[in-house]
Amino acid sequence: MNQKKVLFTIFGATGDLAQRKLYPSLFRLYRTGSLAESFAVIGTARRPWTDETYRDIVKETIAYLNPTEQEAVEFASHFYYQAHDVNDTHHYDTLKILANKLDEQYQLEGNLLFYLAMSPNFFGTIVSHLESQGMLSSDGYHRVIIEKPFGTDFETANKLNDEITSVFSENEIYRIDHYLGKEMIQNISAIRFANNIFESMWNNRYIDNIQITIAENLGVEDRGGYYDKSGALKDMVQNHILQVLSLLAMEPPVAFSEKEIRAEKIKALEAVRIYTPEEVKENFVRGQYDTGLLNQESYTGYRQEPGVDEESETETFVAGKFTIDNFRWSGVPFYVRTGKRLTEKGTRINIVFKQVPINLFKSEVGKKCEQPTLEPNILTIYIQPTEGFSLSLNGKEVGPSFDMLPIQMAYRNSTETMENTPEAYEKLLLDALNGDGTNFTHWHEVAQSWRIVDVIRQTWDENTPEFPNYPAGSMGPDAAFELLKKDGFKWIWTPDQWYRDRN
Ligand code: BG6
Repeated sequence: MNQKKVLFTIFGATGDLAQRKLYPSLFRLYRTGSLAESFAVIGTARRPWTDETYRDIVKETIAYLNPTEQEAVEFASHFYYQAHDVNDTHHYDTLKILANKLDEQYQLEGNLLFYLAMSPNFFGTIVSHLESQGMLSSDGYHRVIIEKPFGTDFETANKLNDEITSVFSENEIYRIDHYLGKEMIQNISAIRFANNIFESMWNNRYIDNIQITIAENLGVEDRGGYYDKSGALKDMVQNHILQVLSLLAMEPPVAFSEKEIRAEKIKALEAVRIYTPEEVKENFVRGQYDTGLLNQESYTGYRQEPGVDEESETETFVAGKFTIDNFRWSGVPFYVRTGKRLTEKGTRINIVFKQVPINLFKSEVGKKCEQPTLEPNILTIYIQPTEGFSLSLNGKEVGPSFDMLPIQMAYRNSTETMENTPEAYEKLLLDALNGDGTNFTHWHEVAQSWRIVDVIRQTWDENTPEFPNYPAGSMGPDAAFELLKKDGFKWIWTPDQWYRDRN
């Protein structure tokens, strides 16, 4: 096992993200041997914690991974806390003294990884102070991992990027999109490029439409304050959904390397049409949840959530159709939808293939198939909570008729019930330690995603929405279903849905 020598400095160490995702991921890396004795973590935030308090918190956050007492104590002993005001330059001097001491103590060879897990308003200030106070003058590498949101629109993202790139070069910047660490998102490339049967059909001659659904049954929980300023479009579409779309739409890279994959993703995003306001109105709908029943329990509406304005016009649901103007995808709609408080949690991709040209088996030609048209083949990629994929085929029902039955060829990963977000962070942290930026978003991807999304936001901001418009526990507003219906399609949730609808 290649053990990493590195000093992590986490800004926002007392926050929710650090506690829910980073510490468990670091522990997994520690347990599997990627991080052994040669690593240390400085946690910084405003609260006046001691090392002991910090270590106790770290131990609590990993308790669910069932470490032995000794393992937990040894792991937590690598954590040091430094109360810090990001605006105060003197605090960086104290940080530097601690960093130098730990570098020597753990023999970290000057490798520094900064993790910015706090409000993006501070990112620029932090990186400029890191440089001005000489914190980047060590012998090893300097990398920075940046949490979303990366800006709130193209302009703010661009400004932020200028600030960060004035200190770190693009290949030292790791912009996190945790979807890129998910096992089945990474598997998209394997499904496409390791299976000739799919890649040869991966175009507008054989594919009718592609659907990406990221459904959540949770509401905004304790993030009402943040969410109300963001909304589903910026929270999910600008990043996760457009990233997934780029992996589905990109051309095969000439090599499976960071440089080549990023280049293809950027090209795919550049081919996504930036809509006019008229096209936005035609192709995108939004929703906000009202009170409703979910698993027989009643839930309040979004406007009653803590931290949310009681007349909020923020969307908690988006559905839309993206158009990709290139040779491969011209004419193939990419439908996307995401929302909170939906019927169930599930992230799925459905590749809906075109139907056979004629139904040879229908009754008029002497056989007994009652269905006038056959159903399409569908490749479903299950991202979470189930992981796997299935291919839906038509087969003959047993017996004298020639009715068709959906037959599923399915592969399910054994981690079916596993919560895969910490696992995603673990993979991404390891990538960053290895200096591999493949599963992080390049600035050009971020920039293009904002250009695509900004016009949708601006068009929506000019009109008052009729909110709330979907009950908690449903799959979103009616308009989301109309969107596909007018194109002659429907949302696929389970690939055998047509069969279940029929029976
Ligand atoms: C985050 C969003 O990026 O992704 C959250 O800010 C959302 O609002 C989360 O709940 C979904 O992630 P996952 O891994 O649970 O699908």
